Amino acid sequence: MSTLVQNHVPVEPEATSFARRAYDRVARYYDLLELPMEWLAFRRWRRRLWRNVRGPRVLELGVGTGKNIPFYPPDVTVTAIDLSPRMLARARRRAARFPDRDVELLEMDAQALSFPNDTFDDVVATFVFCSVPDPVKGLREALRVTRPSGRLHLLEHMRVRSERIGRWMDRLDPLFYRLTGVHIARRTTENIQKAGWVLEQEVDLAPGGLVRHLIARKPTNLQEP
Ligand SMILES: C[S@@+](CC[C@H](N)C(=O)[O-])C[C@H]1O[C@@H](n2cnc3c(N)ncnc32)[C@H](O)[C@@H]1O
Repeated sequence: MSTLVQNHVPVEPEATSFARRAYDRVARYYDLLELPMEWLAFRRWRRRLWRNVRGPRVLELGVGTGKNIPFYPPDVTVTAIDLSPRMLARARRRAARFPDRDVELLEMDAQALSFPNDTFDDVVATFVFCSVPDPVKGLREALRVTRPSGRLHLLEHMRVRSERIGRWMDRLDPLFYRLTGVHIARRTTENIQKAGWVLEQEVDLAPGGLVRHLIARKPTNLQEP
């Protein structure tokens, strides 16, 4: 039985406002900027991720401009949230182009979800935990709203496995963050486990583990420490 406490209190420190502003600013150009990577790799990786997702109730965190919407399986109902109203406005337009996808789009902070415990069967996030200000808090919230044995599916870029290159990424991270709102040296695999998920699968999609496909499971009989 899950005993995690619901966290309705919105987190609104400066870092969260900064992330919202950064994505509101870039929303208009986001799809264009990402186009080369989308065609080279992201579409293939999205297809791979969604093949493993089981519903019927799925939560997508940080839906952005809705690039995953075309990949939603036909038999799932998706609740998709994002911090940035301007990214969401683009996602709404994309959703309108795919009327057979069952998706509800909501403005919400992944660090303070307004859903009851154990609401969703699976949770998905693609390229999101690099910019969530407190990733462990966001991953704990994802755990809380997932039913026991439900799964978390992530595509994330993160700190590479090589310590030598990883240390360079650590040094460059603050500069990157100030310029873009994105952290380049997050330890997302460790963060998932810190949040209480059980890691089931970790596949390197780019050299050195720079981009990974991660699947984790919510343990049954979870107790709040
Ligand atoms: C790099 S974009 C990825 C968008 C989309 N998932 C994709 O694959 O194209 C990161 C998204 O995460 C959202 N985001 C960042 N922090 C968030 C938070 N605390 N809660 C909800 N969404 C957040 C941003 O607004 C942005 O839309």
